Amino acid sequence: MENIFADRINDVPKSFIREILKVTVQPDVISFAGGLPNRDFFPVKEIRESCCRVLDESGKDALQYSTTEGYEPLREFVSKRYADKGINISPDEILITNGSQQGLDLMAKSVLNEGENVIIERPGYLGAIQSLSIYKANFKTVDLENDGPCISDVKKAIESNPKLFYAVPNFQNPSGITWSDSKRREVADVLAPSKTVLIEDDPYGELRFIGKPQESMKKYLEKNTVLLGSFSKIFAPSFRLGWIAAPKSIFEKVIVAKQAADLHTNYFSQRVLFDYLRNNDIDKHISTILAVYRKQREAMVNAIKKYFPEEVEFTEPEGGMFLWVKLPRHINSLELFDIAIKDKVAFVPGDPFYPSNPDKFTMRLNFSCVDEATITEGIERLAGAIKSVM
Ligand SMILES: Cc1ncc(COP(=O)(O)O)c(C=O)c1O
Repeated sequence: MENIFADRINDVPKSFIREILKVTVQPDVISFAGGLPNRDFFPVKEIRESCCRVLDESGKDALQYSTTEGYEPLREFVSKRYADKGINISPDEILITNGSQQGLDLMAKSVLNEGENVIIERPGYLGAIQSLSIYKANFKTVDLENDGPCISDVKKAIESNPKLFYAVPNFQNPSGITWSDSKRREVADVLAPSKTVLIEDDPYGELRFIGKPQESMKKYLEKNTVLLGSFSKIFAPSFRLGWIAAPKSIFEKVIVAKQAADLHTNYFSQRVLFDYLRNNDIDKHISTILAVYRKQREAMVNAIKKYFPEEVEFTEPEGGMFLWVKLPRHINSLELFDIAIKDKVAFVPGDPFYPSNPDKFTMRLNFSCVDEATITEGIERLAGAIKSVM
């Protein structure tokens, strides 16, 4: 068919991970490729109760159109949770979005002109590369070291007057890396004199199972930080509920973008989520998830130490859902994928996590969805595949 499509969509590659997932759904494949929260912890019974309560108590209101900003009590809940962490954000600065992915889209739509510079970690979140590419961002990548971005890269990138710096400082997708306190301060020092807005995307922040929490970048760079948050990893991703917390001047523009996109986020979902939060202990729920993810992460790290060749490097995340593997320089992870899938084990090759010049010797492993024994078995299979090409 004749190409009727706009440049903005033609130039953006289809999600590579979705393509890969198609191969990995066969039942006998052990998949570390997914990026999903563990479905065993979706609070099905409690959500059913909340749905019934919302419909019984305020069904007609809950099914009506609503405000663009989002359900006020839910915005107050988010504001209060920030306050508990010592971050002062008024409910008036919080917009409920259709997942944090929409938060990113609305931010990019509101501030980016074609060809403007955006800093992103290398490797970086695929969904951000995709979303920012639609707005024709010119990526300035900064290498991710074990404790956060390479500061000399950040200094160099900031010279190009980027509009945005998009980052995932806690348990990053794909690497599992968390920025240290000192890296956070250093990045803030570099950004403070600039006009660059830092987008701190934090969907995994609550999923810390080792060590102590770091301060949000908002603490170090108050005026220039926009926060993205999500209920996907601690409640249920299908609800598509997240938020943007932005200073008033940015907030007002983002509201216009939100109105144009979809008027407002699904109001019934917001009411059900809020009812759930009011009638259940979300922190208890999160600690149940954490106990399992901690064990699965431990099983994966231990199996890697036991079975992988010594030359393989890997991150040991303190939270989140992923760890990152660097293979010896002659093992291309795309080629390894084809061998591994024959051995019935899958992962995501590192390639798509780079906007350009991919490091082809890397891969992402997910540990949130596979039980401990299966993780050990899968890592042993993967080790076999790696050794077969060494
Ligand atoms: C870093 C990062 N940001 C955003 C998202 C999207 O989350 P949401 O479900 O809130 O749209 C994800 C999902 O995997 C993610 O890994």
